[in-house]
Amino acid sequence: MYKQLQQRDLPEAPVNISTLRAMKAAGEQIACLTAYDASFALLVDRAGADLVLVGDSLGMVIQGHDTTVPVTVQDIIYHSRIVRRGLGRAFLMVDMPFMSYTTPSQALENAVRLMQEGAAMMVKLEGGASQVRIVEHLASHDIPVCAHLGLRPQSVHKIGGFKVQGRDQAQAEQMLEDAVALEQAGADILLLECVPNELGQAVRDAVTVPVIGIGAGPGVDGQILVLYDMLGITQGRLPRFVRNFMQGGAAPVEALQAYVAAVKDRSYPAPEHCFS
Ligand code: KIV
Repeated sequence: MYKQLQQRDLPEAPVNISTLRAMKAAGEQIACLTAYDASFALLVDRAGADLVLVGDSLGMVIQGHDTTVPVTVQDIIYHSRIVRRGLGRAFLMVDMPFMSYTTPSQALENAVRLMQEGAAMMVKLEGGASQVRIVEHLASHDIPVCAHLGLRPQSVHKIGGFKVQGRDQAQAEQMLEDAVALEQAGADILLLECVPNELGQAVRDAVTVPVIGIGAGPGVDGQILVLYDMLGITQGRLPRFVRNFMQGGAAPVEALQAYVAAVKDRSYPAPEHCFS
């Protein structure tokens, strides 16, 4: 079988889309974290995270903006390249930034850059049914895609703040329809942010692809957190779903291992991290 040069001597096989699908099928929780540099990527990988996201949250936690809107394709490429150097086993997904996927051809051009220049293995874009055409176009060119539903931070100015989504029946039904449409369009993973537990579980049950949650309750196939939030680096008021794994004086590597273990044994998220 083909193996990337730098992975030939790794003790464990690198995670790929098939691994993630098999984990869902086996009921094994998928532990995911964001990372933005090689040193943390190495720690996150060694702690056993299955998937690492170079999120456009870097606009907030690295660049100091109030939102993810100012992040550019070039920013993601820079961070993705350096994160990839720290990874051995984990799968690398990266965000397509705000307005970098407004047409199928623009989306394809930028996704190719993220994969060729940024060494990404999958791209993530935000949106529901309105993105079906884009997802179809990317998937038809064999670009692995994750569709991000629920709270979509790139739309924060339109939504009017970072708020829980899908609390009313009509919105919840629309999200379920969107999830199914995005899977049919070729999305390989769904990411669900800030929705009530019940909706998280319903989306998970409605699709065959893995559903990763952040503030989507325990009924999904895996969890993701922003690295700087779960390490207690982010200052100020944090979202309800964040747990600080550094509490109790753990070293960063221990905190990362504790997070992976808590996701795998389903002790995170606990009821206090969930929305109803
Ligand atoms: O940008 C990011 O870090 C994200 C997470 C909130 C999942 O999309």
